[in-house]
Amino acid sequence: MTAEKIQQTKIDEFAGRLKALGENFAVKLNEPMAPRTTFGVGGNADIFVEPSNEDELAAIVRLCREDNVKYYIIGRGSNLLVKDGGIRGVVIHPCGEWFERIVVNGVEIDCGAAVRLKALAGEALKHSISGFEFLEGIPGTVGGALRMNAGAMGMEIFQVVKQIKVLDSDGEVRWIFPQEAGFKYRGCERLKVAIALEAKFSGRCGEKEKIAKQMEEFAVKRRATQPQWRSAGCVFKNPAGYSAGKLIDELGLKGKKVGGAMVSEEHGNFIINVGGAKAADIIELIKIIKNEVRTGRGIELDTEVEIIGED
Ligand code: EPU
Repeated sequence: MTAEKIQQTKIDEFAGRLKALGENFAVKLNEPMAPRTTFGVGGNADIFVEPSNEDELAAIVRLCREDNVKYYIIGRGSNLLVKDGGIRGVVIHPCGEWFERIVVNGVEIDCGAAVRLKALAGEALKHSISGFEFLEGIPGTVGGALRMNAGAMGMEIFQVVKQIKVLDSDGEVRWIFPQEAGFKYRGCERLKVAIALEAKFSGRCGEKEKIAKQMEEFAVKRRATQPQWRSAGCVFKNPAGYSAGKLIDELGLKGKKVGGAMVSEEHGNFIINVGGAKAADIIELIKIIKNEVRTGRGIELDTEVEIIGED
């Protein structure tokens, strides 16, 4: 048997074991990832599953760990660059009613991990809860936003988190407090391994008109300063004391193109897919930007976008 056939046999066998868990989710093979990311690039995942509750998710993860099969959790794919060779292993996409529910209690909002940030901000507005306005234009889910400690307009999501329910690294489900999560600027140590299942957020009593006005102001600012093309938001974290976008702008890199990938003319920290980009184009452009910023300004840029998969 060729190496490829052995690999395919292994994939089929593992897919069979996932199906044998007897749960309700479908197990898909060779699933295209490009439509599942905002960049719109990348190859296929060997196996793709969509658990609809925490028990299904825990069972999938347990099996992957037992068999030493790599797994990745994806939300909306808005901070993700999947390489052109696709993903060896299992991609887990939590979705469905359980993961997408929102329950409001006073100024507290309880959300499943697959709730979109736009929906969370919208629900807060509906109930006149202030503190969530900045989430309005961030194109991710609660789970992904917690993992990244996503932010905008001077706020970040951990500022409104009360508790997070996680599937922990030891396979146990438990509630943790923000201070146990190891969150930092655009990152969260605990959620590199643990998986967010749901979260309780806490806001303040507000006035609906003021909240709506603030959201509109943020949206106007975003539309004026950020591109509407396919992208993954800011590609790089801001180095301490600098804006990565401004550095890239000052070095004259806006408009720089590799294949279908281009440094946005609107914001230097965005790489946009102007049509037909390959992941390799984006990765090459990232390399060029990092080199230019290192040589020109002596600063090492760190990617904020998560890069996964095979070349
Ligand atoms: N600037 C330029 N040229 C550019 C881009 C920015 O001169 O091409 C200047 C702006 O004029 C401003 C300063 O740099 O004076 C900062 O720019 P901006 O307000 O756009 O903020 P940023 O630091 O570039 C951060 C977040 C964004 C978030 C915005 C708005 C990071 C890496 N980025 O960008 O988050 O939307 O603030 O609050 O922290 C993301 O994380 O994916 C993201 C888009």
